[in-house]
Amino acid sequence: MQMKNGRLPMSEYAAAAKELGTLNWVGMESNETFEQIASEGADTVRIIKPFADHDRIFSEMEFAGKCHAVAVGIDIDHVAGQDGNYDVVDGIPMGPVRFTNLCEYVKAAGRPFVVKGVLSVSDAIKAKEAGAAAVFVSHHHGRVPFGIPPVSCLKQIKEALAGSEVAIFCDCSIASGYDAYKTLALGADAVSVGRGILTPLLKEGQEGVVKKVNEMNRQLSEMCIYTGVGSMQSFEPSVLHLAAGASI
Ligand SMILES: Cc1cc2nc3c(=O)[nH]c(=O)nc-3n(C[C@H](O)[C@H](O)[C@H](O)COP(=O)(O)O)c2cc1C
Repeated sequence: MQMKNGRLPMSEYAAAAKELGTLNWVGMESNETFEQIASEGADTVRIIKPFADHDRIFSEMEFAGKCHAVAVGIDIDHVAGQDGNYDVVDGIPMGPVRFTNLCEYVKAAGRPFVVKGVLSVSDAIKAKEAGAAAVFVSHHHGRVPFGIPPVSCLKQIKEALAGSEVAIFCDCSIASGYDAYKTLALGADAVSVGRGILTPLLKEGQEGVVKKVNEMNRQLSEMCIYTGVGSMQSFEPSVLHLAAGASI
C-alpha cells in the first residue's frame, strides 16, 4: 500500500519518528522494505516474527544490523494461530520461542534486544535472564485472546525487574497523553502507540503523526504540571486513584 505521494506509510512514519526524535518500530516487513524504511534515518527497531525457521530470525537480525537498526527484538505474542496450531503469517510458519532460543537471539543480536509481548512477571524475568535490554509489555492490540490489559501487570513487572537495567516499554489502547501519563505512572519507562497513530498517518502522513505525537506530549505535560512530576524518576503510582474496589 502506498500513500498519495507514492511513499510507504511506514516511510512516512519513520520520517515522523526522525523529526520527533522517537523510536521507529518496524514489524514484519521484507528485508527490502525494512531497508527502505530504515533509510529515513530514524532510530529504528526491527521486531522480527517468531519464525519456525530460526535461521530466518538470525538472518533478519543480521540484516537489521547492516541497516543500522538501534535494536532488534521478537514478538513472542505472535506464536499461536486461531486454529490451535502455530500461526502462519503470509505463508510463513511461526514456531515456539524457548528460553534457550531467546538466549541465542540476544547473543547474536549485536545490539540491544527487545522481548515484545511480555504479559507476566515470569515472562519478564525470563527476558531479563536471557539478557534482553528491554521488555515490551503488550497484548499486541488484542491478538492474544483474553490477554490482560498491559497496564494491569506493569507494577508487578516493574518490581520484578527492579535493580536491573531492563527497560520497560508498554502499549495497547494508548490514545492520548493522559493514557501515556497513567502508563508511565504505573511503571513503564516509555510508551508506544499503534492504532492511535494509524488514522493520522494514513490521512496526513508524516505531518499527521507529528501532530498527533505533539498533541499527546502536550497532554502529558499538562498532567505532569498538575501532579508535580518533573522527570521520569518522579513518576510513581500514588498519583493515580483507583475506583473503589479496583486494584492494580
Ligand atoms: C497495522 C498494524 C501492524 C502491526 N504489525 C506488527 C508486527 O508486525 N509486529 C509486532 O510486534 N506488532 C505489530 N503490530 C502491533 C503493534 O506493534 C502494537 O503492539 C499494538 O498495535 C499496540 O496496540 P494499540 O494499537 O492499541 O496502540 C501492528 C499493529 C498494527 C496496527
